[in-house]
Amino acid sequence: MKITTKINLLTTVWMLFIMVLINTVVFFLFMKTTVNMEEAALFQKAGDILKDIDTNQSSSYVEENLKDYLTDHSFIRIIQPKNKVIHEVTNDLKLSKKIKGKYTKTKQAQTRLISAENGEEQVLVVRIPINNGNQSNGSLEIGERLMGLEARKELLRAILVFCTLLAALLSIIGGRWLANMIMRPISNMIKTMEEIEMSGVPKKINIQNETKDELQTMASTFNRMIDRLQENLEKQSQFVSDASHELKTPLTVIKSYANILRRQGLENKEMADEAIQAIHSEATRIQKMTETFLDLTNLEKEDVLDINEVNLVSLCESILKQLKDVYRREIILHYEESPIIIKADELKIKQVIIILLDNAMKYSNEKIEVFLEKDEKHAIIHVKDYGIGIPAEEIEHIFERFYRVDKARSRKTGGSGLGLHIAKSIMKLHKGEIKIKSKEGSGTKVELFLPISNRNIED
Ligand SMILES: Nc1ncnc2c1ncn2[C@@H]1O[C@H](COP(=O)(O)OP(=O)(O)OP(=O)(O)O)[C@@H](O)[C@H]1O
Ligand SMILES: [Mg+2]
Repeated sequence: MKITTKINLLTTVWMLFIMVLINTVVFFLFMKTTVNMEEAALFQKAGDILKDIDTNQSSSYVEENLKDYLTDHSFIRIIQPKNKVIHEVTNDLKLSKKIKGKYTKTKQAQTRLISAENGEEQVLVVRIPINNGNQSNGSLEIGERLMGLEARKELLRAILVFCTLLAALLSIIGGRWLANMIMRPISNMIKTMEEIEMSGVPKKINIQNETKDELQTMASTFNRMIDRLQENLEKQSQFVSDASHELKTPLTVIKSYANILRRQGLENKEMADEAIQAIHSEATRIQKMTETFLDLTNLEKEDVLDINEVNLVSLCESILKQLKDVYRREIILHYEESPIIIKADELKIKQVIIILLDNAMKYSNEKIEVFLEKDEKHAIIHVKDYGIGIPAEEIEHIFERFYRVDKARSRKTGGSGLGLHIAKSIMKLHKGEIKIKSKEGSGTKVELFLPISNRNIED
């Protein structure tokens, strides 16, 4: 069943239930109060009769006077113990026949249903004792057909049924309107999703009114999700095209040297050596590049960190020792405080530091300095070199994927332009920051800011 039909049906049934309940209560309360009022009026009349008429007088006197109190369709009786009727006046014989006189010592009232010409009719009977001092002198009984009540009852019932049906009708119309209003954005969303499914192209929902309700939140969330999806798709296709472009150059080199080898064989030994050398170095480059690609793909996933306590001082000392041994470069570590402990993924932080030192070594020939500092919130790592520096207008681009300042030079140094991009992604995962200050010709300083208490990256 469609949600609109469900909402419509439920609201209507609920409305009907409430209306029937309320109307029943109204109906019975009306009947009760009307009968109560009639009852009070009859008791009042009975009291008046006993005040005005001396029931010990002769039969003709009593009955003559009682007649004055008769209304349409009523009877008045004086009854003695054992239900012995001693006086009775009536203008409705049928009525008085149907209701037998009853003696009572206490005040009482009752309603009786009797059959009449047009269906049933209510009769109200009240009885009060006649007392002379302490002695009971019988009881007075008055019975009256509640003619008006039946008519009013019918009218009231008709009105209530009419109101109930009207409410049900309004509820159907209102329910349909409400259901349509609620369902419109959802239908829009379903339509958009179906279009996405058919075409495979992410598409946003058109939000017509700013209703600020849950449905709009749902549509906005959906749109944000589509935005992210689109962004990711663009990133992905950009990456594929950038990566293919990057792989194309070394592959072209390999292919052309392989062609030379095929044409000339190994006759020209010098040429063959050069070709093999070039093929080997380009193949190594491709291998390194593919490893970096894998690294990058892993970093796109946000749950890749293995967080532990890391002492930056000992970490830097061990990295520097390894690099100094391999590259025979002067790298100096400065720090005033030890240990400097942060919560981070040690391998990833090590990777960032190596990326920075690798750049410093590639783009400078003099000493390289590493400074470790700490402020209230951050551990700060500076890597400083006195090399060629980066032109000011290039600095904003150097974190982009595959971006290299001097393509020809980078080719020689073997860079693919991914190092700083990876470093930035790792810093982002650690909720840290990376900043670069550089002056062309005099050197570069890269600063890493890592939060000391990194509780949020553990979540
Ligand atoms: N310390 C530095 N001095 C001068 N130029 C730098 C320095 N660090 C980075 N650059 C410039 O920024 C560019 C991007 O650096 P990045 O580390 O991302 O790539 P890469 O070093 O070329 O290659 P990869 O690190 O992927 O091997 C470099 O090509 C280089 O031009
Ligand atoms: Mg680099």
